[in-house]
Amino acid sequence: MNTRRLIDTAVALVAGDKGLLAMDESVGTCNKRFAKLGIPQTEEARRSYRELLVTTPDLGQSISGAILCDETIRQRVKNGTLIVKTVVNAGIIPGIKVDAGTNNLAGHPGEKITEGLDGLRERLAEYSGMGARFAKWRAVLFIGDRIPSQGCIEANAHALARYAALCQEAEMVPVVEPEVLMDGNHTLEQCREATANVLQAVFEQLRTQRVILEGMILKPNMVLSGLTCPKQATVHEVAEATVTCLLRAVPAAVPGIAFLSGGQSGELASARLNEMNVAFRRRAPWALTFSFARALQQPALEIWNGEPAQVTAAQQALLHRARCNRAVRRGEASMMPRWTVQARFLVFPRTTRKR
Ligand code: 13P
Repeated sequence: MNTRRLIDTAVALVAGDKGLLAMDESVGTCNKRFAKLGIPQTEEARRSYRELLVTTPDLGQSISGAILCDETIRQRVKNGTLIVKTVVNAGIIPGIKVDAGTNNLAGHPGEKITEGLDGLRERLAEYSGMGARFAKWRAVLFIGDRIPSQGCIEANAHALARYAALCQEAEMVPVVEPEVLMDGNHTLEQCREATANVLQAVFEQLRTQRVILEGMILKPNMVLSGLTCPKQATVHEVAEATVTCLLRAVPAAVPGIAFLSGGQSGELASARLNEMNVAFRRRAPWALTFSFARALQQPALEIWNGEPAQVTAAQQALLHRARCNRAVRRGEASMMPRWTVQARFLVFPRTTRKR
């Protein structure tokens, strides 16, 4: 294994003020998002949309890596170039989602286990040959009545560590994603406790499976009040709870933490990450960056809406959110009085949206 190459890739993915674009929605998830907007759920529509994303001019100035899915890595843009090659040409490192989705965890009602370890060594070799330099695996944990259970936490942590070790064997950087979902009426404190338990188990398993911490990236949830919790934490409370939780669980050897957005609006996800970089960067030994899907893509998807004439406006919306998050990494929003009044900075002008 070329450890140097692995570490260099991990460091490049979280370097400077760039972050990751997660565009690896499975066919099913992508179709669901299309269906909500009335976009045809065809392979060609998914290909066109992914082409729109990766051909956005100047995207590589704000995005260090793009996570593709199995369908996308095999597709081509209109001029015949492979999408994965188009990503590289844009100065972006290509990655690939390699988990096979979730299934019910036996004996644990209401809980999920992520599958996909069978044949993973062979699939990683194929993806590496296609140009992917990093990979992603997402575990999902719910907060509820006596869940997440220890059985669910340990099973998912073990699978994440087995996946991460296989990635490193293939000289691909594992993005390790244990997502504690924001659905529910739990408090910020309950989310902090669940997230801490999950992260502790994940790092125990990563050590047991001999994963090189310098050659991986952690992709966690932010610590949030549940979506339907009557008391919603402030931006500062979220930033503080999240960084405190991570400081207790994540070794300093990990080069970067790239948050998922998990269904937060693009503006809130940016505001919370900005606050972490403004208030806590000096205490954090790792880069605090983003690996958003919805928080980067949603305005672009809505503007595009399946219409070729809307491609340029949609690309501008994607670029805008990517640039906002680039500024967030620099903690630039701190120079502005309040997030709530920064409409120009945060919100894409809706007037360009055709309905
Ligand atoms: P969201 O940012 O939409 O949560 O997606 C991130 C991701 O990659 C989920 O696996």
